[in-house]
Amino acid sequence: MLCNMSSLSKEKIIKSKNRVRDQGEVFTREREVKNILALTQATDNIFWKFLEPACGDGNFLVEIVRQRLMRIKQTPTYRPADKREYAIVKMISTIYGVDIADDNIAECKKRIMDEIFMFAPKKSSAAFLLAVKNILDTNIQLGDMLNGKDKVFFVEYGFHGAEYITKASVKRKVYALTSMENGDDSVSEEFPLVKLSAMEPINLAKYHPKPFGNIDLMSGQATLFYKESGNV
Ligand SMILES: C[S@@+](CC[C@H](N)C(=O)[O-])C[C@H]1O[C@@H](n2cnc3c(N)ncnc32)[C@H](O)[C@@H]1O
Repeated sequence: MLCNMSSLSKEKIIKSKNRVRDQGEVFTREREVKNILALTQATDNIFWKFLEPACGDGNFLVEIVRQRLMRIKQTPTYRPADKREYAIVKMISTIYGVDIADDNIAECKKRIMDEIFMFAPKKSSAAFLLAVKNILDTNIQLGDMLNGKDKVFFVEYGFHGAEYITKASVKRKVYALTSMENGDDSVSEEFPLVKLSAMEPINLAKYHPKPFGNIDLMSGQATLFYKESGNV
């Protein structure tokens, strides 16, 4: 018990007081993450889509990925290396995260990658490495989910063909968050069916009305905190 208490207190839940004030950034402890997830269906089906709109450095996403990877490991069908790689890639393609802070996005991707490589076959195939990188680059993204929703786009990955990393193909469709919210679900762009090993990266920045990368951290926060406290 003492041991648990001390490991709990060592978990870093804030990076700085300024970030708590400016970005509302307080991370969730692992114990709470696990308890909250146990109340949801996030890991019931390893291929259900899950979006975290303010994912931080990935506390929830990493735990979901970890639990789904365990399920893949325990499933006899996915024991052969090329089938396991296929399942991991398909599972990762259903995980989405957005955050306004680029360091959080980088950490989130790295943490998910670390989890994946603990479960991936020892000698990963080139197709697997390419797919994991391309998918994480589209699915874990910088964005302002309060004031920049028109700049947020998601890629849907549809898998076709035999369930082996070297044989499967993927079709990608890009959707604008704003049209998804309006319920029209119109596709911004559809990419042709390609083998996983031949997947070109998609740069979501090309769909943004203005060049990306200069999110004004304070713009969204002003709305958040002025409303609550009357001052910043
Ligand atoms: C309370 S933290 C939670 C992080 C993570 N979900 C967790 O539970 O550990 C809130 C996160 O929201 C992000 N954030 C704040 N405003 C945002 C916005 N307008 N759009 C997207 N993310 C935002 C912050 O950078 C921070 O990582």
